Amino acid sequence: MTDSENIFQLKDLRRTYIVGSEKVHALDGIDLTITNREFIAVIGTSGSGKSTLMNMLGFMDSPTSGQMEFEDKDVTGIDGSGRARLRANRIGFVFQSFNLLPRLNVLDNVLLPLSYSTKKFNNHHDLGLEALERVGMTHRASHTPNQLSGGERQRVAIARSLINNPRLILADEPTGNLDSKNRGRIMELFASLMSEGITLALVTHDDAVADYAQRKIRMEDGRIIEDSKS
Ligand SMILES: Nc1ncnc2c1ncn2[C@@H]1O[C@H](COP(=O)(O)OP(=O)(O)OP(=O)(O)O)[C@@H](O)[C@H]1O
Ligand SMILES: [Mg+2]
Repeated sequence: MTDSENIFQLKDLRRTYIVGSEKVHALDGIDLTITNREFIAVIGTSGSGKSTLMNMLGFMDSPTSGQMEFEDKDVTGIDGSGRARLRANRIGFVFQSFNLLPRLNVLDNVLLPLSYSTKKFNNHHDLGLEALERVGMTHRASHTPNQLSGGERQRVAIARSLINNPRLILADEPTGNLDSKNRGRIMELFASLMSEGITLALVTHDDAVADYAQRKIRMEDGRIIEDSKS
């Protein structure tokens, strides 16, 4: 099967939270198309809706209104299990706080998403080591997360996001906790994944990180106020 050129098409997408008598328009009419092999940086002030948008793209949340197509199929109203299936089979996540499980070693952390995926994978152990190889972390496979440095934890989180062979990687502040040297390494790693055909959308407050992207999307008050390609 060949992948469709369009990954996401969002039309007038809204996500409204109701807090007491107040409405928070976290996404306030988003029109956005993401196509194959793009590298997008999402920037904007705190509270502008960046994480809400990433949660939407990662099928962690559903819109209040508007329309959402994924790979040319309308996914606006899909139920929880449909969302879970797309999330597990098509998308890799990297979170700022890494979300590694402290009791599992590095290899088992990396293998975790396979237990949610409905795709069939043979020989999990080898796949896990392959993913660790891609981020240069095989030598720490049996360490637990607290036996790693911050940059190493981040690389393990990226290996984990690769394990289901995703089409799209979503990363929310993936370099937020790193020094400039480790930040550079992570960005080089992302760049090499891009050359293998992965599409990447990441949130950052860091201009140096955003400069790696070919496309910058700036958000403010739940809207996209700038969308530029370099
Ligand atoms: N569960 C929630 N209930 C109510 N309001 C929420 C909820 N989650 C987020 N918000 C509000 O929605 C808006 C967008 O939040 P979001 O987390 O997307 O911002 P962000 O751009 O990621 O900010 P940051 O850079 O600080 O991470 C904010 O005003 C926030 O207060
Ligand atoms: Mg956020």
